[in-house]
Amino acid sequence: MSFRLRAGLITTAVIGAGAVILSQGAAFAAPPAAPSHHSPAPADSLRSLAAQSGLRIGTAINTDLLASNDQYRAIAASQFSSVTPENVMKWEVVEPTQGTYDWAAADRLVAFAQQNDQLVRGHTLVWHSQLPAWLTAAAPSMTPDQLRAILKKHVVDEVTHFKGKIWQWDVVNEAFNDDGTLRDSIWLQKLGPGYIADAFRWAHQADPKALLFYNDYNIEFTGPKSNAVYQLVQDLKARGVPIDGVGFQTHLDTQYPLPDLLNNLQRFSKLGLKVAETEVDVRTTLPVTPVEQNAQVAGYTTTLQACLAVRACLSYTVWGFGDAYSWVPGVFPGEGAATIYDENLQPKPEYTALQQTLALAAGTPGRNNPRR
Ligand code: XIL
Repeated sequence: MSFRLRAGLITTAVIGAGAVILSQGAAFAAPPAAPSHHSPAPADSLRSLAAQSGLRIGTAINTDLLASNDQYRAIAASQFSSVTPENVMKWEVVEPTQGTYDWAAADRLVAFAQQNDQLVRGHTLVWHSQLPAWLTAAAPSMTPDQLRAILKKHVVDEVTHFKGKIWQWDVVNEAFNDDGTLRDSIWLQKLGPGYIADAFRWAHQADPKALLFYNDYNIEFTGPKSNAVYQLVQDLKARGVPIDGVGFQTHLDTQYPLPDLLNNLQRFSKLGLKVAETEVDVRTTLPVTPVEQNAQVAGYTTTLQACLAVRACLSYTVWGFGDAYSWVPGVFPGEGAATIYDENLQPKPEYTALQQTLALAAGTPGRNNPRR
């Protein structure tokens, strides 16, 4: 399972592949208009290679770094064809005071994406975490009708603000526990399970062309959680609720076995849903040993291969790049090194593995045989 991919193997395959397609917006449902003033990405960049399989390769973006770090900005533009705001579309950022919106940081990210011919994954509308303090404080004493009105206004106002500019929205994020029960969030407590379908309906009314996703972690594995999400989305589809896809966050850790992700992507796609890997990273205990780095390389390689193998898999998004900027060390003590670039923004073997996996897969589905 674990093997090390050598750097340098890629050149022949890439050059041999000839014409590199920089952008494939037309292959996807409702891509936002793409201005033409982007600079060409190198033929061996992740985005150029992924385009040959009709795949968008994305990253979470830290908008502070985008503004302050030239090297970070250059990598974001040249390597990726999709971007996800790591934080700046979350409710606590866009409505810090009730009734006063602040879209500035998110608008800057959308502008960056348009300049660089990238699509945007909107993240995220309904979640239990990173809620504004005013909401967390007031929610317990609200009636269900009051809280539902606040949630609806949030979903409609945010989707309306970005209407026509978002490719995929993570409408509902992390609604389940690992045992397959619904998470005991303020949404479930006050509104009951129907809040999930409501959120999709509100989002669809506000931007009928955006692809609407349910997004969660640990659903890469077959088990109680992915089975519960499967039942939820099957039920939503059967009831005509406007859901288009399921996002598999794919936060892996080398201390656990690799997930049977291909199986899960396939069974969800057979429901007529699109799928995406939305937040890929592979963390490990520090310091990294060669054995662990091989396992990290295997984690990135196999998850990308799974997406490439499933026609309904529209995008493969890493949760940031640059180990110095990853969320992992702050949340999982003693762990890190989870991204494909090191602390100095140099590409790691994990990067080379993605590059080589894309080069080997180039062609099918492709330009004339799009993902859908
Ligand atoms: C994380 C961000 O990376 C951090 O910067 C922030 O402090 C907390 O949220 N699942 C998700 C993401 O859906 O929004 C989370 O992002 C990581 C886990």
